[in-house]
Amino acid sequence: MADSDSLKRAVSLKRAVGVEAAELVESGMRLGLGTGSTVAHLLVALAEKLSRGALTDVVGVPTSLRTAQEARELSIPLTTLTETPVLDLTIDGADEVDPALDVIKGLGGALLREKMVAQASRRLAIMVDDGKMVPELGTRCPVPVEVVQFGWEVHGPFVESCGADPVLRVGSDGEPMVTDNGNYIIDCHFAGGIGDAEGFERAIRARAGVVESGLFLGMATEVLVSGPAGVETLSRGDRAQTGDRVP
Ligand code: A5P
Repeated sequence: MADSDSLKRAVSLKRAVGVEAAELVESGMRLGLGTGSTVAHLLVALAEKLSRGALTDVVGVPTSLRTAQEARELSIPLTTLTETPVLDLTIDGADEVDPALDVIKGLGGALLREKMVAQASRRLAIMVDDGKMVPELGTRCPVPVEVVQFGWEVHGPFVESCGADPVLRVGSDGEPMVTDNGNYIIDCHFAGGIGDAEGFERAIRARAGVVESGLFLGMATEVLVSGPAGVETLSRGDRAQTGDRVP
C-alpha cells in the first residue's frame, strides 16, 4: 500500500511539472525534447495544447528513439538537429540537481543526444521532483558515462582511480545495455558524492573511447521542482553559466 502510494505521488509530481513546463513553450518555438517518464507527461501536455490550437508552429528535436516514438504517437511535429541546429528551448528530466543547478542525467540512457540537443539550445529547462534535489552531485545516483564498445573494460581502472566504482549497465536480460548510438554505459558510483565534478568531467572526457558523461555542468538555465506545495522554478540568474550552450 505504501509502495503504491509513493508510486502515485511520484507520478502526480511528474505530471504536475510536465504540465507546468509546457507553459514555457510559445508558438513558433523550436524545441529540444528530452527523454524519460517526466518528459512523457510534458509531451502529453504539449500535444493537448497543440490539438486545441493554444500552441502553433512548434517543432521538436527528440533526444531518443523513445521520445521520437512517443511524440509521433501524439502527433507532435518533429525535426532533426541537422535540419534545425539552433533551438529556442530544451525541456528535459534529470536524475540529480545540486544547489548550483548542475545536473546528472542519463539513467534513461539518452545522455549523449540529450547533451547535444541541450548544447544547441538557448535555454535548458530541467524538470524534477523534490527528491532529486541534492546537496552534492553523485549522492543518490551514479554518473553515467557512455563509452564505445571497443575495449570498454579499460575505463574501469581509470574510473576507480577517480574514486568511483564503475558498473557496466546491463538490461533485464543481463546483457550490456546498448544506447541509441550503439554504445555501452558505465555507471560511476561515488560513495558520498562526486566532490570535484568539473575535474571528473574533464578527466573522463579526455579519454579516447569515452563518448560523453551524464554531468550537465553550468547548462541548465532553469529548474522546475515539483513538490507537495506545487512547482517552484529556480533560475540560473546570477549563477554563472560555465557549460557549452548556444548563447
Ligand atoms: C534520460 O537519459 C535521462 O537523462 C532522464 O532525463 C532522467 O533519467 C530522468 O528520467 P525520469 O523523468 O524518468 O525520472
